[in-house]
Amino acid sequence: MIDNSVAAIILAAGRGTRMKSDLHKVLHPVGGRPMISHLIATLTEVGVDQKVVVTGSGRDQVEAALGDVDFAVQDPQLGTGHAVKCTKAALAGFKGTALILYGDVPLVSAAVMQSMLDARAMSMGGVPMGAVVLGFRPDDAAAYGRLLVDGDGYVERIVEFKDANEAERAVDFCNSGIMAVDAEDLFAWLDEIDNENAAGEYYLTDIVKVARDHGRGVVAIEAPESEVLGVNSREDLALAEAYFQGKARRTAMQGGATLLDPATVWFSWDTQIGSDVTVEPNVFFGPGVTVGSGATIRAHSHIAGATIGEGSEIGPFARLRPGAELGSRVKVGNFCEVKKATVGEGAKINHLSYIGDATIGANANIGAGTITCNYDGFGKFQTTIGEGAFIGSNTALVAPVTIGRGANIGAGSTINKDVEADDLSLTRAPQKSLKGWAAKFRAKRSRETGK
Ligand code: UD1
Ligand code: MG
Repeated sequence: MIDNSVAAIILAAGRGTRMKSDLHKVLHPVGGRPMISHLIATLTEVGVDQKVVVTGSGRDQVEAALGDVDFAVQDPQLGTGHAVKCTKAALAGFKGTALILYGDVPLVSAAVMQSMLDARAMSMGGVPMGAVVLGFRPDDAAAYGRLLVDGDGYVERIVEFKDANEAERAVDFCNSGIMAVDAEDLFAWLDEIDNENAAGEYYLTDIVKVARDHGRGVVAIEAPESEVLGVNSREDLALAEAYFQGKARRTAMQGGATLLDPATVWFSWDTQIGSDVTVEPNVFFGPGVTVGSGATIRAHSHIAGATIGEGSEIGPFARLRPGAELGSRVKVGNFCEVKKATVGEGAKINHLSYIGDATIGANANIGAGTITCNYDGFGKFQTTIGEGAFIGSNTALVAPVTIGRGANIGAGSTINKDVEADDLSLTRAPQKSLKGWAAKFRAKRSRETGK
């Protein structure tokens, strides 16, 4: 029997120089969320007992971005084996499994982590596995470490690309970097690792050979490349994003949404799409979006931090910004922007409007070109529009201002005083016409210019 406790160790002390970025590598977003936060969320799903993040280079950035984890500092950074060693104090007395992950390998699923923990409980000669490594077979094995497996199916050792000979480089079974190790032996085994290799670093990967030398079993399980892709460059980041998006699109479709052209719809890690939602091509969902069932999102809409009620119709070319809370059957049409505004059931904002810092009652009709003037250069002010109000086209609502329920606003008005329910309010210069003026003007100018 093994102790079922699990402590996760996430390595994030390396500089990530190949990204050429001021932002720490593990904080680069995939699906709108830092890579390392994907890992931490998955570990929470698996239910580990403790999470230790190893920071070093750029540690202020990483520590500021994460909550609810323990930190261990690695300074200087002498390799992945040395990084794990730095968690010794944080994990003093811990028994069970140390699940070691790399902050730059963000998309591994809870199911794969769980199968590694299950494999750790398998025995060799009555003793649980010393370690389980997660391997994969990428299309291009590139510079990944290679897993060398013996005739009995046990992993003998891992050889880093830099140190591998030609035959070893020809092996297509690669190291993802994720490893489940017997926590009781981990630190003793790390003490046996040296840095006599091409990189002059203490490689975590050498722990496999050490465990085998101690008579312990090491097995590998295999994951799809999409889950264990390591991000070392911007190209890798784009690939991780592509895998993430592919999965998010499949999840949306499996949940009953129609994506007319899936490859052009961009999701965030937390996008919630109901059933019978239709999404037209070229739609971007930033973080914090919920789309109710039966809604239609038309082409070229950009939506972030917004809730869209059931049966609503958004776009084409609509922009919903954080705090847009739309009830059911709301319409936000072409070239409209809605920010920090609650829009009641059945209300319509159909053409060329800006609605910010506002509350709009149910079934109100906001005419084309209506603008809530919410900002005076210093502060933001609120516009309130009652149920069933009708705002004429090209109206400027100078906040703070309240339009009562059922009121009408005449087209082209600038409204800066409250309007009572069911009143008509308008500001408009009186119209005058000069009989035949235009024809006389044309005749005169034609004589003068000869045109
Ligand atoms: C590592 C593995 C390689 C594997 C690959 C998978 C080793 C020696 N090699 O190589 O077998 O195929 O990942 O993506 O482990 N880090 C520290 N401290 C250090 C060095 C690194 O915390 O001193 C962290 C980095 O921040 C990073 C992770 O460990 O999150 C991996 O380091 P990286 O330099 O990217 O290793 P790879 O060359 O990718
Ligand atoms: Mg790497």
